[in-house]
Amino acid sequence: MNPKSIISNLTDCSVENEKQWIEGYCGVVGDILNHPKYQLLRGYNHHKIISCHFHSVYVSFLTYKASTLLGCNVVEATRAAALHDFYLYDWHITKHDEFHAWYHPKMAVINSQVYFEQLNKKQTDMILSHMWPLHIVPPKSKEGMILTMVDKYCTSMDMFKQSKRFLPIYEEIDREVKKYANT
Ligand SMILES: [Fe+2]
Ligand SMILES: [Fe+2]
Repeated sequence: MNPKSIISNLTDCSVENEKQWIEGYCGVVGDILNHPKYQLLRGYNHHKIISCHFHSVYVSFLTYKASTLLGCNVVEATRAAALHDFYLYDWHITKHDEFHAWYHPKMAVINSQVYFEQLNKKQTDMILSHMWPLHIVPPKSKEGMILTMVDKYCTSMDMFKQSKRFLPIYEEIDREVKKYANT
């Protein structure tokens, strides 16, 4: 697949076309999305009025597609992407000694290990380096490079009020993922 068709495939927001992608994605991260702690992300504003939940689903869904199309480790990449902003506080309200851009990836790693799983070395690096180049050291893996690029794309969509294009898919994921509750 050439770069142009990868980009047009990634940015397709038609639920009809995306049905199989949505099912595959929910199979990989259904347990995370259904977890009560993950549901808390709905209550935290991430970028302006966009919730941390919406942003995390947006980023991880596109990471799922990109890592599949580029022949990467899809499960590792998608699960790390779903957890990349799992820092569990409203950064507009809760302040820390360290700048949020540097602090929150560390909290996301800690929370992921507490509530979900032992992240492997690659997944830990993916989450810690997703703010590159603000995080000085670039991601060490292809999957990490995909995550940091997709995160920037989705953040730009949030900032320019274009994320609503993803809303029908987000809502379909919400419906589909309930099938994976308690599995
Ligand atoms: Fe982040
Ligand atoms: Fe993010």
